[in-house]
Amino acid sequence: MTHPQGPVLAADRRGFLLASAGLAAGVALGGLPRRAQAAPLALPPLPFADNALAPVISANTLGFHYGKHHMGYLTNLNKLIAGTELAELPLEKIVAAVAGKADKVGIFNNAAQTWNHSFYWKSLKPQGGGEPPAALKQMMEASFGSVEACKKELAATAVGQFASGWGWLVADGGKLKVVKTGNADTPLTSSMKPLLTIDVWEHAYYLDYQNRRADYVNAVIDKLINWEFALHNLG
Ligand SMILES: [Fe+2]
Repeated sequence: MTHPQGPVLAADRRGFLLASAGLAAGVALGGLPRRAQAAPLALPPLPFADNALAPVISANTLGFHYGKHHMGYLTNLNKLIAGTELAELPLEKIVAAVAGKADKVGIFNNAAQTWNHSFYWKSLKPQGGGEPPAALKQMMEASFGSVEACKKELAATAVGQFASGWGWLVADGGKLKVVKTGNADTPLTSSMKPLLTIDVWEHAYYLDYQNRRADYVNAVIDKLINWEFALHNLG
């Protein structure tokens, strides 16, 4: 980093004024220049009204889940990265930059949870479920034998995730797979391409289903899952 006094001392009066003006907005403590503070990451709007997924997911659940939990992860992330080089990066690159680093677990957890939740909202839609688009259906049949078998494995995997986590439909080496991740972990940091996800943290369903995770997962797959989003992610 160039010390500000170097070019300023060599400059004429006009240059000094220009340099001073340029630094004024970004002078850090200690007089060293820094880049302008990056804008905090913003919470993407929900892609539907908060009552649009009822009765499968109530407006009450959505209000807490999006407005408190998702927002909470984002708020924590913005605090943790403020003033660091990470604040200059898009969310996906933050997740990749800190994945697997023991001293960055807090940042990873909040960044990955922020990303996972934005992806989860897009994985749902009012009047979802039903017949997948033809191109996705063909891949499901090639990978699982049938659409029903794919849905069954997705449900079993999401329900079977021990404690908090996520069930995912992913693309891996030209095939579809179903995987689960614990806590904040995400296939985003793997070679697999995430296509859609189901949040199985208790906060995703407990107000509506209490301990009946399977009822929540099956209702989501039958009535809300956004197969078009999965096809879009296949690229
Ligand atoms: Fe969640």
